[in-house]
Amino acid sequence: MAKIRSRIRGTGHFVPAKVLTNFDLEKMVDTTDEWIRTRTGIRERRIASEDQYLSQFCTEAARQALEMADTKPEELDLILLATVTMDQPIPATSCFVQANLGAKKAAAMDLQAGCSGFIYALSMADAYIRAGVYRHILVIGGEVLSKYVDWKDRATCVLFADGAGAVVLKAEEGEHGILSSAIHSDGNMADFITLPGGGSKIPVSHAMIEANHHTIKMKGGETFKLAVRSIEGACRESIDAAGLTPADVRWFVPHQANTRIISAVGDRLGWPPETIYINIDRIGNTSAGSIPIALDEIVRSGKVQEGDTLLFAAFGAGLTWGSALVRW
Ligand code: ACO
Repeated sequence: MAKIRSRIRGTGHFVPAKVLTNFDLEKMVDTTDEWIRTRTGIRERRIASEDQYLSQFCTEAARQALEMADTKPEELDLILLATVTMDQPIPATSCFVQANLGAKKAAAMDLQAGCSGFIYALSMADAYIRAGVYRHILVIGGEVLSKYVDWKDRATCVLFADGAGAVVLKAEEGEHGILSSAIHSDGNMADFITLPGGGSKIPVSHAMIEANHHTIKMKGGETFKLAVRSIEGACRESIDAAGLTPADVRWFVPHQANTRIISAVGDRLGWPPETIYINIDRIGNTSAGSIPIALDEIVRSGKVQEGDTLLFAAFGAGLTWGSALVRW
């Protein structure tokens, strides 16, 4: 009997219209366009307006992915939404997306794994499909980080941005689809990237807000050092599990956290720059949104051919990291 695989049949993405450039940030914090460009690769990013929120972005990205996949919302069995910036704490943002789409049959849940969230959700969806439990799954990664950022902290506010991407997975027999994935966590480094307030440990209060516990903090340097090694390891794991070599990867579509991290991983695995998809210069770091946004861009550009091998990899809060290998 032929193997059942999870095949990506549709992709979509949405980023808000408002552009925030490095020059705009020069007027807000003590930074320069030159520092941001050379240290991160970012030139500009997209930022939500006051009346925009996550479920709107995810719904639009999902509609595009469903259209490309020629799939009706009613056919969906499951909606998995990876995010750290939900619409509100209760209920799950994925339930708003389910209602917006009219995906009546679908179970909906949110999943939190920092910037690795999309890889985690993809890996979970793949397990459901290969186990024969579900046949049509919508996987979304999206963030509105601008509403969780400390706009006075130059070490983080220049990095983060808003946007969402989505894929529709279908159960299909054959050799196309997700070949392998690897996901990892190490909670011993939980304090590297945090938003400490607003939960059961430090509940919402005036004092919590005065202490600035409601915004994102990051130990950038420490995170950077671990990111390269961990992403490289996760990439090798997925490639080995599929019985391939790094040279078989046609497109590396990484989480867009920093061009220096991406290039270092590419160098270690021997990938020439034309193998690596980068959009951080225009889009910034959209955490769980970044891989599905980049994937939709490269797919719609016509560069990805049937049979190409694509590798996704990410690293983020938790700490979490992982990768997924796909035959298109
Ligand atoms: N403008 C100017 N100077 C700055 C800025 C800024 N925006 N931000 C920091 N600096 C200064 C620092 O204060 C420091 O100054 P000092 O030497 O006088 O103390 C100096 O620049 C160097 O700071 P570093 O933090 O060492 O800079 P680094 O080269 O490491 O770059 C960065 C910082 C871009 C954050 C990098 O460390 C990084 O990309 N880290 C990884 C981020 C990541 O992958 N996160 C995971 C995903 S995020 C998620 O999960 C939500």
